[in-house]
Amino acid sequence: MKVLVTGGSGYIGSHTVLTLLEAGHEVSVLDNLVNSSAESLRRVEELTGKSVTFHQVDLLDEAALNELFASEPVDAVIHFAGLKAVGESTQQPLRYYHNNVTGTINLLRAMDAHGVRTIVFSSSATVYGGQNPYPYIEKMEIGSDNPYGRTKEHIEDILSDLGAADARWRIALLRYFNPVGAHPSGRIGEDPLGIPNNLVPFIAQVAVGRREKLMVFGADYDTPDGTALRDYIHVMDLADGHVAALDYVASHLGVFRWNLGSGIGSSVLDVLHSFERAVGHELPYEITARRPGDLPAFWADPSAALADLGWSTTKTLDQMCEDHWRWQKNNPQGYQDA
Ligand code: NAD
Ligand code: UFG
Repeated sequence: MKVLVTGGSGYIGSHTVLTLLEAGHEVSVLDNLVNSSAESLRRVEELTGKSVTFHQVDLLDEAALNELFASEPVDAVIHFAGLKAVGESTQQPLRYYHNNVTGTINLLRAMDAHGVRTIVFSSSATVYGGQNPYPYIEKMEIGSDNPYGRTKEHIEDILSDLGAADARWRIALLRYFNPVGAHPSGRIGEDPLGIPNNLVPFIAQVAVGRREKLMVFGADYDTPDGTALRDYIHVMDLADGHVAALDYVASHLGVFRWNLGSGIGSSVLDVLHSFERAVGHELPYEITARRPGDLPAFWADPSAALADLGWSTTKTLDQMCEDHWRWQKNNPQGYQDA
């Protein structure tokens, strides 16, 4: 298939582009580079020996989107492009709704106008919100606690309505849990701008000497070691999940939802200790107050993805940390080192 990957130079996008190329697909990427560097795609080309067509286009630019679809016919779209920082979304809700929701509507209109009606969309476990018991199951009523999550929820609704209105659409809504790790080569990985919000990129920057110590946000949760539990998933497993979902919708019309997670809850201290094993020594940390808005624990029930897609995670937390560490150690300043 010829696949257009929006947000394809970003963290999950670049790993998925690599996996798509290795699976024999042709790939072009659309990204405005607001949170990524085209260097990631140069390295994907180097790792795979295959080329990727890159279009620096903003999803908010409808004319450019239409031109792209007119000039380069594709069979399907994998849609990663979006803003993703939960805290920032509470400060800049209009920017988040405009970029994520309007950007997706523009994309869907351009796809429809050019007869491309197959899409795999990056949703998030955050759509389940705090009201649901875990493990989370796809059939649960969703309701996110923050503007970022609500952009995902609205996009899921828009895609569901579209699939209900026009039976020609093939739509996969993938709810990711906590993606970490990097390609085992250490050539591509997660390269956050500024101070990382997420746990593993923060630990990695402590390990490489860019940050003094990890702040553990709360050790008084009702969990085995008092720190919060999450479902970490290796980014290469996540990339495989996209290829499996794309293959599935290629032969099934309709709208489908799948959790992509391991089904295992790991604590903040489990992750820290796993990263310490990768680095080979202890890392400094301090227990501080809970981060507002954080949930004590959640993880996926990944059985639907196994049943429908034959997909499940294959990599352990130690492998995630080893691969993340190799990327960070070899690229202390991320792609800026290039
Ligand atoms: P990322 O920021 O590395 O990638 C997103 C890409 O989208 C970036 O390259 C950015 O430049 C691009 N982009 C943003 N707005 C755009 C626009 N208007 N036009 C064109 N390009 C635009 O993030 P990621 O971690 O790779 O996440 C990919 C997707 O997965 C996002 O939609 C995110 O919300 C979702 N997701 C991520 C996580 C996570 O923890 N990383 C968890 C669940 C879901
Ligand atoms: N944590 C710390 N210190 C840090 C960073 C995080 O203790 O410096 C803790 C958090 O309190 C939380 C756990 O580590 O308990 C994981 O935090 P992350 O920020 O890495 O991940 P979240 O589960 O909060 O959220 C992530 C993404 C969301 C996404 C969600 C589910 O940021 O966008 O996973 O997919 F919706």
